[in-house]
Amino acid sequence: NWTASSILDDQIELIRQQIGSAKVICGLSGGVDSAVAAALVQRAVGDQLTCVFVNHGLLRQGEAEQVEHDFVASTGAKLYVANEQDRFLNALSGVSDPETKRKIIGREFIRAFEEAERAIMADAASAGEEIKFLVQGTLYPDVVESGGGEGAANIKSHHNVGGLPEDLRFELVEPLRALFKDEVRAVGAELGLPAEIVGRQPFPGPGLGIRIVGEITGERLELLRKADAIARAELTAAGLDNEVWQMPVVLLADVRSVGVMGDGRTYGHPIVLRPVSSEDAMTADWSRLPYDLLARISNRITNEVEGVNRVVLDVTSKPPGTIEWE
Ligand code: XMP
Repeated sequence: NWTASSILDDQIELIRQQIGSAKVICGLSGGVDSAVAAALVQRAVGDQLTCVFVNHGLLRQGEAEQVEHDFVASTGAKLYVANEQDRFLNALSGVSDPETKRKIIGREFIRAFEEAERAIMADAASAGEEIKFLVQGTLYPDVVESGGGEGAANIKSHHNVGGLPEDLRFELVEPLRALFKDEVRAVGAELGLPAEIVGRQPFPGPGLGIRIVGEITGERLELLRKADAIARAELTAAGLDNEVWQMPVVLLADVRSVGVMGDGRTYGHPIVLRPVSSEDAMTADWSRLPYDLLARISNRITNEVEGVNRVVLDVTSKPPGTIEWE
């Protein structure tokens, strides 16, 4: 029988035994798992840990700030930020094929992370120290899945920030290896992490990059961020966060339709709402959200987000649809 605080005490002891007085690094994605793993290691070994946040510019509104300010404020962790927004936009320029986007984002992410690693290692070396460990937020279901060979998981080339290729220079520290997601959230809350991080719904590693159907540009990201922020705020205000597994908001950048606003004709893009109910993301059903909530989201997005003149609802289950559009 576990409680969040007994897991915490046990893990802190184990982490101290494993790491000793060595230096350690941990990548942060903005997600729950990496944040809780990092916060645990920080609690165990303090400043021996340096966290690394590669900002690929594909996060939602407020998420980079959550890592850079809220995570740091609540844990006291040392954070190295690599602002790589331009690098990702350049690498993705002209690309609209979903698998190509995923591969480019995954590749650039690893390169950017390795560059950050080298900078931190050089810094440590000049102080006569060496980085020996890499923290990963692997959960129990990840351990089981990678042993089992999951069919549906291979339909798309998943990029997971926690799942960097095994780096032989480092020994891995995996403090969440025995835990399920709800236990991880409980431990995170016990560690004092903000509710927005601990309660975050699933969000894909390639981020908004796979929620723009068509080429990714800075302007399109900005537009999608605004629409997504409105949809999430209204879902939360309606008290329905727990009814919905996740709600991708997708920009159909290659589609335009005619609309009317005031005295004028518009020719804008549709935004798709994809709220789903699910147990494990392997199968899902579309969420029957209340009509008045859908109406509020639609009104606000078409009024407040320039360039969007239509909001549509995805009513497809998985299978045959996947949760994400790309
Ligand atoms: P699909 O679209 O395959 O998504 O039905 C199933 C779940 O996986 C998430 N997803 C990802 N998560 N890296 C991730 O970490 C990825 O590349 C990725 N692609 C999809 C998706 O949000 C859903 O929860």
